[in-house]
Amino acid sequence: MTAKGGDKMDSERFLRSVINASPNAVITINESGEILIFSRMAQAMFGFAESEVLGKNVRVLMPEPDHSLHDGYMRRYIETGKANVIGRARPVTARRKNGDVFPAVLHISEFDEEERIFVGFIEDVSRQKATERRLEDTQLQLQHAGRIGAMGEIATSIAHELNQPLTAAASLAGAASLTLKKASFDGKDDALTLIDDAVSEIRRASGVIRQMRDFLRNRETERALHSINRIVEESCLIALIGAETDGVMVASALDDHAGSAMVDRIQLQQVIVNLIRNAVDAMQETRNKQLTIATASAGDFVEIRIADTGSGITDEMKKRLFEPFATTKEDGMGIGLSISKSIVEAHKGELFAMDNHPAGAVFVVKLPASKDGAKEDA
Ligand SMILES: Nc1ncnc2c1ncn2[C@@H]1O[C@H](COP(=O)(O)OP(=O)(O)OP(=O)(O)O)[C@@H](O)[C@H]1O
Ligand SMILES: [Mg+2]
Repeated sequence: MTAKGGDKMDSERFLRSVINASPNAVITINESGEILIFSRMAQAMFGFAESEVLGKNVRVLMPEPDHSLHDGYMRRYIETGKANVIGRARPVTARRKNGDVFPAVLHISEFDEEERIFVGFIEDVSRQKATERRLEDTQLQLQHAGRIGAMGEIATSIAHELNQPLTAAASLAGAASLTLKKASFDGKDDALTLIDDAVSEIRRASGVIRQMRDFLRNRETERALHSINRIVEESCLIALIGAETDGVMVASALDDHAGSAMVDRIQLQQVIVNLIRNAVDAMQETRNKQLTIATASAGDFVEIRIADTGSGITDEMKKRLFEPFATTKEDGMGIGLSISKSIVEAHKGELFAMDNHPAGAVFVVKLPASKDGAKEDA
């Protein structure tokens, strides 16, 4: 550190090691957009060696339209001093050497040395984006499955409700027809034909309802071996997005030995999401809002427990908890639990509720655990 040149050398080397140690890709350019430094992470991220890009215009790292527009952006900034990107992080699209385009977050700072230098910090966010997309897809599938499931439940209930009056109408019409046959009056044959027509219309209506119910109930299920903890974690994320979770403390106690079970992933997620949403709803008015989500291996079964410190299940509701259309909520359909129960039972499992102490409710999903150590599906 004696001579001036030595100072400069050292500070440059120091700068370089700082830049190379950064977990983000770091790229510096001059006023003409020429690359001056291309950090180690930048090389890994973009697939270019530093020697391949030094002195090149930074737009080689951008897909269209930025590739063509970047020189203009820089010129405008240098002439007017109006910054669009400098000083804040913003999402951009970047391009690797092999032509792959990926989402990134870019942060630019400016330095004035002898000439103006811009330093860009780039973070590759393609993994996060992919996770977000997977979650969104699952949510859509879930909504779809939920709607179909809900329609199945509604169809079943309607079929049940309509079946009785339709059967009664059919036998009343049959009795009318028998009575008429014994009588004699003008137009008797016409009347009998009309009654027969009525009977066949009634039968047709029953048939339509039955078909609708069968169609909606028999959704193909796709069972595979899935990690219970993973399904529970994903369901939590999905359930808590967009829910009124102000002030709700979420604790999870996932048992490492919970293992896997043969389940339809979407359906099981739907069950857990229903239970979590109900738990959050139940805590709307209570001061202490603690949601606990636990898994545990229990002999031949694996258990998922969703406990809340909410209002608790009313005595009235306890009798009809799993029946369709049983609800205490103004905007509730009352079908969440009945669908959940049919799903769990279709998996040869059990769904039941208990009181939580000192307050609230606990819902338990019990599923047969998978005995063999077969590999689970992703
Ligand atoms: N964690 C809970 N704490 C207290 N009561 C609950 C809880 N979960 C469910 N309930 C009661 O059971 C009823 C039925 O729940 P279910 O999920 O079937 O329907 P819902 O939540 O009312 O409407 P939706 O069809 O939108 O789910 C609720 O209205 C509520 O009264
Ligand atoms: Mg519900």
